[in-house]
Amino acid sequence: MSDVLILGVETSCDDTSAAVLSGERELLGHVIAAQDMHGEYGGVVPELASRAQLKLIDRVVAQALAQSGKRLSDIDAFAVTAGPGLIGSLLVGLNWTKAAAFALDKPVIGVHHMEAHLFAAALEEESAEPPFVALLVSGGHTLLLHAKRWGRYRLLGQTRDDAAGEAFDKVARLLGLGYPGGPVIERAARDGDPERHRFTVPMVRPGQSEDGDDYYDMSFSGLKTAVLMRVRELEAQGVLENETAHLSAAFQLAAVEQLTEKTLRAVTATRCERVILGGGVARNKALAESVRKRLGANVRVFVPSPRLATDNAAMVARAAAFRLANGERCGLDLNARADLPMPGVVL
Ligand code: KG4
Ligand code: ZN
Repeated sequence: MSDVLILGVETSCDDTSAAVLSGERELLGHVIAAQDMHGEYGGVVPELASRAQLKLIDRVVAQALAQSGKRLSDIDAFAVTAGPGLIGSLLVGLNWTKAAAFALDKPVIGVHHMEAHLFAAALEEESAEPPFVALLVSGGHTLLLHAKRWGRYRLLGQTRDDAAGEAFDKVARLLGLGYPGGPVIERAARDGDPERHRFTVPMVRPGQSEDGDDYYDMSFSGLKTAVLMRVRELEAQGVLENETAHLSAAFQLAAVEQLTEKTLRAVTATRCERVILGGGVARNKALAESVRKRLGANVRVFVPSPRLATDNAAMVARAAAFRLANGERCGLDLNARADLPMPGVVL
């Protein structure tokens, strides 16, 4: 039997993406169209995002198909992000995909956006599979999971307030560095001295025990406020501009140390020998380096390439390949949900 050909669609936020995936790893076509109008507003404007999705979706799918050398009628199954995300944006991809599946009488699979991020590393590395500890760090979520097998995930910890990517975005705004914040903070931090403005690493204290609910949980809003207070002081002294790189480096260090410590705790407790990073913040080189260094040579850390770490349709198609092989199908009553709970998550 030849490999299943899946067309994946991702429109959960401000990227419009389509991918043609053959089997589990052969990416025949993959297009990601990022919207650049949100920078002007310092964050994603939902109404603008959904309108742009509508404008782009046909072209993006056509380009992915053209790259793959396949026609729409060659596709065996359709996959689409059903949530979580911005409802207007989600609905564009969902309705496009359902219409195509209906017209061609092919199955459709609704995919959870964070489960898709979990599958990104598996597109490139066959051994990026359970059992593993996963740290998923995006603009909307921060999850620490233990996966014994695909489809069943024990939630060890999550953020109590802002998501990791959101913290990068907010701090970048405070520092006047633009949007999205992750890449600009990372760039600025390279020229900064992280020790000049040391911030306390959130949620990491001596004496924390595995039974405590703060052992794996994370937090970023206190760190963001600490940066804000320092920014105000430096502004009053008229020296803020000279300190931007140092503040970026200090913020990044505290954020990365928190994420690294929590991942290390999860690996120690579960005795996993594999760690998967996923989500936009997984593009951060300091994070990958720190996790690799702290976990040592006996733990393999899988980091998706930058294009597959941020939002993309290839990971959606890959997650759907698993669900499809499991015999799952969605009906045409499949709907989008802004707060869709992740399937298979146990506490
Ligand atoms: O996964 P993603 O593309 O979209 C969501 O599902 O939210 O993640 C976007 C987030 C943004 O907050 C962005 O600032 C962050 O990922 N990000 C980074 C880096 N590149 C993107 N954060 C830290 N360092 C980076 N290099
Ligand atoms: Zn995402």
